[in-house]
Amino acid sequence: MVWTSRPVRRLNGTIRAPGDKSCSHRALIFGGLASGTSRFTGLLEGDDVIRTGRAMAALGAGVVNTGPGAWEVRGVGPKGLTSPKEVLDFGNSGTGSRLMMGVMAGFDLTAELCGDASLSSRPMNRVLNPLRQMGMRDTAGQEGRLPFSLTGSSALKAIYYKPPQASAQVKSAILLAGLNAVGTTTVLEAKPTRDHTERMLQGFGAKLGFRTEPGGAAEISIAGKQPLFALDAAIPGDPSSAAFLIAAGILSPQGDVMVEGVMSNPTRSGFYDAANLMGAHLGAEERGEAAGERLIDLHAGYAGLKGIAVPERLVASMIDEFPVLAVLAAFATGETRVTGADELRVKESDRIKAIVAMLRVNGVGVEETADGFTVEGCGGPVPGGGLVETRHDHRIAMSALVMGTAAQRPVSVDDVSMIDTSYPEFLGHMAALGAEISEG
Ligand code: S3P
Repeated sequence: MVWTSRPVRRLNGTIRAPGDKSCSHRALIFGGLASGTSRFTGLLEGDDVIRTGRAMAALGAGVVNTGPGAWEVRGVGPKGLTSPKEVLDFGNSGTGSRLMMGVMAGFDLTAELCGDASLSSRPMNRVLNPLRQMGMRDTAGQEGRLPFSLTGSSALKAIYYKPPQASAQVKSAILLAGLNAVGTTTVLEAKPTRDHTERMLQGFGAKLGFRTEPGGAAEISIAGKQPLFALDAAIPGDPSSAAFLIAAGILSPQGDVMVEGVMSNPTRSGFYDAANLMGAHLGAEERGEAAGERLIDLHAGYAGLKGIAVPERLVASMIDEFPVLAVLAAFATGETRVTGADELRVKESDRIKAIVAMLRVNGVGVEETADGFTVEGCGGPVPGGGLVETRHDHRIAMSALVMGTAAQRPVSVDDVSMIDTSYPEFLGHMAALGAEISEG
């Protein structure tokens, strides 16, 4: 179903950021493993997270929705997870499926896993290979694609592992397998990735070891067979979802957008750093803490932007924000160059191809490279007028709709349904700011 975003003069208003997707998955998983009942507020009720909750329930945890964003999770504790009776369907979610593979690896159970067309085309060997080294068995074959079944073991062996790619999902899967393995498991990260697993596991009472090497590489260690204890927590706001609203505020000629309660974590802040380098005027005010994370209220108004070479050190901390960064780049003066971002090829879509097509069909000059893309900024409103192929990718859909709010002509997308995976309130929030986005 085609939806269209029409140019508007002004976007203004205050929005409370939706719960962070990464933290919401982890809250349900760790709560489901812990002894006792955890209570969460502000949990993201996107399809990806709901499916993780269902998977934990099928494995023995009690997962109950007690109000909007409010969830109670009764953990299995020392009893451990048990084989599910149903197939675990992770829908579109790389995070849910990969973290759960690590979790299930450490228990004596067999589970069948599947996902949608997008997830079934994404590489799982990056997680399966280290888990196989630890002693997990699976039916995935060489290709390492869903669907397959896996058999975990309570006698899993600890490993020392250096992931070939910067990936918080891979790091997390190994640490979660390590939580139930025999011995101490260590992950060596060459470049830091989001650290929510480490922070939240400690919130649930686990002990982790950290060692930083002189070049910036870091070792994270976890001793096996540690108990987790229930936790009550408010889920911090999602900086990746907030980025769409902030970008809309920056591009709107009379923009004045405030997003409240956004998690401020250096492993997630690359988009905001890049936007600042491009000349955006972003304001931030401290708003306390949630679940061990700093919170800020973020403010954005209109700014003329200039193109930049995105520093490669920012790539991991803005890995989900390149589609919306590309939209900012399209309005900027001069060239914006993204390099060192080949991980974008294995996201919900090949995001390099999807971004290039999204901009081209709206009259923006853009070149694809092996590990990124180069945007020729329009120095003002982009022509627009295109129909964007979203390729089942929520972040491409939201980015294109943001672009339409400030383009010369409307921008359409071929589907909006998958936005529910990460940000079900997106269309409502954009409407509240004054955007004109409708079917047809
Ligand atoms: C996530 C890690 C990132 C990110 C994803 C969420 C997580 O994936 O793109 O949206 O919660 O651990 P990779 O680990 O594949 O980079």
